Amino acid sequence: AEIMKGKFDHFMQKEIYEQPESVVNTMRGRVNFDNHSITLGGLRAYLPIIRRGRRIVFIGCGTSYHSCIATRAIFEELTEIPVSVELASDFLDRKTPIFRDDICVFLSQSGETADTILSLRYCLERGALCIGVVNTVGSTISRETHCGVHINAGPEIGVASTKAYTSQYIVLLMMAIQLSEDRISLTERRQQIIDGLHALPGQLKRVLEADKTLQQLASNVLANSRSLLILGRGLQYATCLEGALKIKEISYMHSEGILAGELKHGPLALIDENMPVIIIMTRDSLYPKVQSAFAQITARKAQPIIICNDEDDSVPRDAKAIRVPSTVDCLQGILNIVPLQLLSYHLAIKNGFDVDFPRNLAKSVTTE
Ligand code: G6P
Repeated sequence: AEIMKGKFDHFMQKEIYEQPESVVNTMRGRVNFDNHSITLGGLRAYLPIIRRGRRIVFIGCGTSYHSCIATRAIFEELTEIPVSVELASDFLDRKTPIFRDDICVFLSQSGETADTILSLRYCLERGALCIGVVNTVGSTISRETHCGVHINAGPEIGVASTKAYTSQYIVLLMMAIQLSEDRISLTERRQQIIDGLHALPGQLKRVLEADKTLQQLASNVLANSRSLLILGRGLQYATCLEGALKIKEISYMHSEGILAGELKHGPLALIDENMPVIIIMTRDSLYPKVQSAFAQITARKAQPIIICNDEDDSVPRDAKAIRVPSTVDCLQGILNIVPLQLLSYHLAIKNGFDVDFPRNLAKSVTTE
């Protein structure tokens, strides 16, 4: 195992750093950057059935669930089919109605998560088309679904999922693009996203350069914090949830992803000069609304750490900012999650915790 980690101290760190390559492996043989087309071989025969589906239901747990939240909006935009997102345990608890014309997509890194497998069998019994988006070839979910896509991120060893998230995100985007290929009015939008995918590996490398800054934040600014709120909205809500999950999982610090639109409905009561906050303020159509959330929390003396785009001059110069390259709105979350992965890593290291094997958690949860 020591050899496999190479120059890295932990598998998680190695897997974070692998992302510029793992995303390439996810796209290999599937994205044609010259003629702007995407072909997922595993789905081709099923495209007509999927397009006729009444709705699409994404089902997963943990990080896999967050990749569904992250891509729901672009999936709906490109396919014009309503998408719902389900936590597998809750989906089962509710005995959710599922019908023959439903398209159910099961997200799982391991392909062995008990609640996700049980949800799959539940949907199979009800006659829905079941699609797997899985990393582990030959896993239960990969075998029992009708069809699917392997994310090809390579083995993930660290219990806290990192590269599987960015690769699942890309697979769901690729699915949405392929499903919408017969929609002429969306041609430009698809091209814009495919060009964005092309630039992504290089941009991921640049985000990783923020490592030192994040290490410093972990050992200075956030050194004695007991809690950390991560605020954002729209496409970045998933980044907030996933970032907070990373921090909880390996640094054992309380952290919560908060939808900025809900701030006034409760979370604002937590804000004062002592409450650590990260706010995700990369530029997209919701930027003005996030700016107003920023104003609301700074008015209550919070001193948020800002995740913003490289060239954003409207972010105060004296603010604690982590700058990331800008990309197409629906891809920005792939870049934005990386600083939070690194931050969680450094918070855990600083406290001497076992990053690859956090207490009480398992890589694959094979019981209900
Ligand atoms: C466990 C792992 C998480 C993972 C979740 C879902 O909780 O610790 O990292 O996101 O299971 O796992 P799956 O293999 O189904 O993606």
